[in-house]
Amino acid sequence: MSKLYLVGTGPGSSDYLTKAAIDAVESVDVLVGSQRALDLFPGFVGDTLVLRARNMDEMMKKSISLVDEGKDVAILSTGDPGFSGVLKPILNLRDDLDIEVIPGISSLQLAAARLQLPWDQANLLTLHGKGNSQVILDYLDNGKPTIVLPDFRVEKLAQFLLENGIHLERKVAVCERLSYPDERLFKGTLKEIAGKEFSYLCVMVIY
Ligand SMILES: C[S@@+](CC[C@H](N)C(=O)[O-])C[C@H]1O[C@@H](n2cnc3c(N)ncnc32)[C@H](O)[C@@H]1O
Repeated sequence: MSKLYLVGTGPGSSDYLTKAAIDAVESVDVLVGSQRALDLFPGFVGDTLVLRARNMDEMMKKSISLVDEGKDVAILSTGDPGFSGVLKPILNLRDDLDIEVIPGISSLQLAAARLQLPWDQANLLTLHGKGNSQVILDYLDNGKPTIVLPDFRVEKLAQFLLENGIHLERKVAVCERLSYPDERLFKGTLKEIAGKEFSYLCVMVIY
């Protein structure tokens, strides 16, 4: 029976790719993923499909139909497939496939490591693709640090928090482009972050 692998590829650099991920990719006929995830496997010889924000649903359905046709398929999910990754959308479409999830090192985990923050007591949250919703406000007063994947722009999230009454001197950190050569860590206050510019790939921690 053909199989669908959901493969976590880590935050970006091949240093954080597991052997299990490499072995799964080497075993399949078709590889599906964002361009930055596909670039981790330059030697892959089968067919590849490029995943973009706009064709996500179409590519999930296409991957499932390829499995139905008898192909082994791996969908690459940066970080871990189970956190703001491809696991949920696939299970929403079909729950009767032969699926194997290969965990990856999440950007949240690498952010916690860089900041030397034990994350067993942290609030973990994603706003990715959901907008700056009120949901985050419920977490910010429970005495625990909150590690959040912003909805695209970290400075917009900081502005939203300020507009919603979070103190401007609240301590925060931003981990940008984790594991890449141009990785940057910023530690400061909410007010400072609201006035800066960051790239799309950021994890934010609100202490
Ligand atoms: C669709 S979510 C995928 C999260 C992924 N499944 C994980 O476990 O890290 C994409 C978001 O993850 C975060 N992210 C992914 N890779 C990152 C990196 N190398 N550095 C910082 N943030 C990253 C960013 O917030 C980005 O907008």
